[in-house]
Amino acid sequence: MAAETVKSAFVGITGASGAPYAVRLIEALVENDVFVEICASEMGEKVLAYEMGGLSTKKLAESYGVKRYAPDDLFAPPASGTSVPDATVIAPSSVSTLGNIANGTGTNLLHRVADVALKERRRLVILEREMPYSLIHIKNMAAITEAGGVVISAAPGFYNHPQTMDDLIDFVVGKVLDVMGVEHELVERWGHKRRG
Ligand SMILES: Cc1cc2nc3c(=O)[nH]c(=O)nc-3n(C[C@H](O)[C@H](O)[C@H](O)COP(=O)(O)O)c2cc1C
Repeated sequence: MAAETVKSAFVGITGASGAPYAVRLIEALVENDVFVEICASEMGEKVLAYEMGGLSTKKLAESYGVKRYAPDDLFAPPASGTSVPDATVIAPSSVSTLGNIANGTGTNLLHRVADVALKERRRLVILEREMPYSLIHIKNMAAITEAGGVVISAAPGFYNHPQTMDDLIDFVVGKVLDVMGVEHELVERWGHKRRG
């Protein structure tokens, strides 16, 4: 990944399970003074509400002061290569959105911004959440990787002895931030643990 500081990021939220990852990611980016734009697919908005007690991207935008777009707003600035953000993250990503991005067959703003990130050689991170994977999913992940994107599984590690659900979420979001090149202290680094 490029070493430049990430100043702007687009966070696309799909209808995959894992809305808490998106919320924590937005929070961490804002804390890092990153200019954040968000957009949920139709199902992304529904699963966000379902998993997080009625939360919406409207409320998220108000709480964190981030810019929000409707998924059909293909006139939105990040849809253009002339104002593509430094980093684009789809978190969580459904295998449906994964397929659209991998095949360049997108129809909504999330697909378009991810496509632009790839063509403009910007950072694209896909936080994938599905199990088990079909061969189609695996091939789509390979296509995105070959095109320069990074696919991350929403699979927390347990070697740092997580105590709470927040610890599990932070592990995964910390990995996304690492790949984006955004500094964070969400997880204790291996080998940096204080002993005794
Ligand atoms: C509660 C709920 C959880 C879901 N979890 C997943 C998931 O983890 N991964 C996935 O690929 N699809 C999941 N789906 C299905 C997607 O929402 C569905 O494929 C949808 O068409 C995705 O559209 P989108 O990518 O435009 O958001 C879930 C659906 C519901 C209702």
